[in-house]
Amino acid sequence: MCGIVGAVAQRNIVPVLIEGLRRLEYRGYDSCGVAVLAGGEPRRARSVARVADLDEQVRETHLEGFTGIAHTRWATHGAPVTNNAHPIFSRNALALVHNGIIENYESLREMLRGKGYEFVSQTDTEVIAHLIHSLYRGDLFVAVREAVQQLHGAYAIAVEHKDQPNTVVGARQGSPLVVGLGQGENFLASDALALAGSTEHFIFLEEGDVCELTLERVRVADRDGRDVEREVRTVAAYGGAVELGPYRHFMQKEIFEQPRAISDTIPQADSFDASLFGDAAARAFGEIDNLLILACGTSYYSGLTAKYWLESIAKIPTQVEIASEYRYRDSVPNPKSLVVVISQSGETADTLAALKHAQSLGHRHTLSVCNVGTSAMVRLTELSFLTHAGREIGVASTKAFTTQLVALFVLAATLGKLRGHVDASLEAQYVRQLRHLPAALNSVLALEPQIIAWSEDFSRKENALFLGRGLHYPIALEGALKLKEISYIHAEAYPAGELKHGPLALVTEAMPVVTVAPNDALLEKLKSNMQEVRARGGELYVFADSDTRIVSEEGLHVIRMPEHYGVLSPILHVVPLQLLAYHTACSRGTDVDKPRNLAKSVTVE
Ligand code: G6P
Repeated sequence: MCGIVGAVAQRNIVPVLIEGLRRLEYRGYDSCGVAVLAGGEPRRARSVARVADLDEQVRETHLEGFTGIAHTRWATHGAPVTNNAHPIFSRNALALVHNGIIENYESLREMLRGKGYEFVSQTDTEVIAHLIHSLYRGDLFVAVREAVQQLHGAYAIAVEHKDQPNTVVGARQGSPLVVGLGQGENFLASDALALAGSTEHFIFLEEGDVCELTLERVRVADRDGRDVEREVRTVAAYGGAVELGPYRHFMQKEIFEQPRAISDTIPQADSFDASLFGDAAARAFGEIDNLLILACGTSYYSGLTAKYWLESIAKIPTQVEIASEYRYRDSVPNPKSLVVVISQSGETADTLAALKHAQSLGHRHTLSVCNVGTSAMVRLTELSFLTHAGREIGVASTKAFTTQLVALFVLAATLGKLRGHVDASLEAQYVRQLRHLPAALNSVLALEPQIIAWSEDFSRKENALFLGRGLHYPIALEGALKLKEISYIHAEAYPAGELKHGPLALVTEAMPVVTVAPNDALLEKLKSNMQEVRARGGELYVFADSDTRIVSEEGLHVIRMPEHYGVLSPILHVVPLQLLAYHTACSRGTDVDKPRNLAKSVTVE
């Protein structure tokens, strides 16, 4: 899973490609590289450090050219070493970048070895480069079209050949690729954002498309090789540098942006109306009797939280499933389901595939809760609700999560109202509670100094347990995920009642146990679970609502939340857990915004 950019122009295109890579780093950052055609064989620079290092290299070596391709990598086949970094060459004539996974690369490699091709990397990508080279008879467009017929798996590629110095050819199947149309220059990229500033006119290539970019022309052929006209769309992607301001990392900045992001996401109207989800929502909502929520990672946890709201407020049966599981198992389709996909990016490969799978099974009603209005997911669903978190740069999701929770609460309230379970007074109460959220969040953010003090203890631990119950169990899951992904401390979350069925065996003085303790109906049960931990010497770190009467003592540390938040409590309780993970990671000196081995947007399965 990676990001690619390509360009043909009449100016040195390397700075545009490098800037494009910077904006695509959210797709992976294990290595990066660029290759240009500048009369003769392609020249390249590659780095296993960040794009800034690549930039330095190209400046030092005066790597310049009018035609070029570039890549930022998230390693799948082959370690993140220079040799596996793209662009990959074939016989110093052809350069190629790839996002995706080729499933039949082993048989292709054997076939190509038989033709005398030598493999110098451990990537699956190298087979594509040699395959196209082996088919090249003077027309790169034709060679790529022939080559892709033999590929199984997912790919978006950009290719250049030394004998066609003003041409870049691209193809896509299963991985995104857009063409950017300029004046006397044309571009390719995994995402329109990469080309912001160069063009606002895009063709979103369709599955199986192959395209040829020259200075004056873009040609697109569909999977059957027929020339096709694709719609040109205008997208004003904001590519400007996002400022860090007074913050140390984007994650910290994004945690502190949550009051604003949430206030931008809360609907302006004082009532919950189906039209918030699209013109067709009123009819669709009337035809459903259950929900199927599909998502990955943090978005999956927002789905899990929503299940509690949807079943208690709207009384509508709700199933939540990890997208990568749903897409491959036999399930029983129900035409009365509303399939809800939740995604910050709207491009996560497993969630997209799960959505398409659900549609192929006959599910007509689909809704995306997404932070990117131009994303594939929003384009593919009947209904949508956009979160307005703004660009999220930190790999560990924060403001996208809390804005998804807002969207899903609005969905629960809307369905509850339609189904007769939310009357006017409850509706007004929910609206008031939503409007109070930004101020409530600001008070929670003011707890940061106390959380910093805790993070010193945490930074010396190697394991942590997180406990929650009911509506706050998914919040415990999200807290554990945040801690493990950025501080590399092993963390697990359990519904507190389940403790005695296994995890209690792990509890010793060395095990910090973080507990989410809102003042809800399960508080007394939760207190018993905390006693079970104390009795085994476990150290408790409790985030308690203001009115819970849980007080600090030996082995029991308490941070008191400023208020008791009622039904929206998960949105507030997750914030101290984000801060705890963040400051623990800072104490351990990790790369908070770009944790090892991860990527912001996972566009391969
Ligand atoms: C990656 C990110 C996570 C994110 C997940 C789902 O794993 O690192 O932060 O929650 O993908 O992404 P999506 O864009 O679909 O919400």
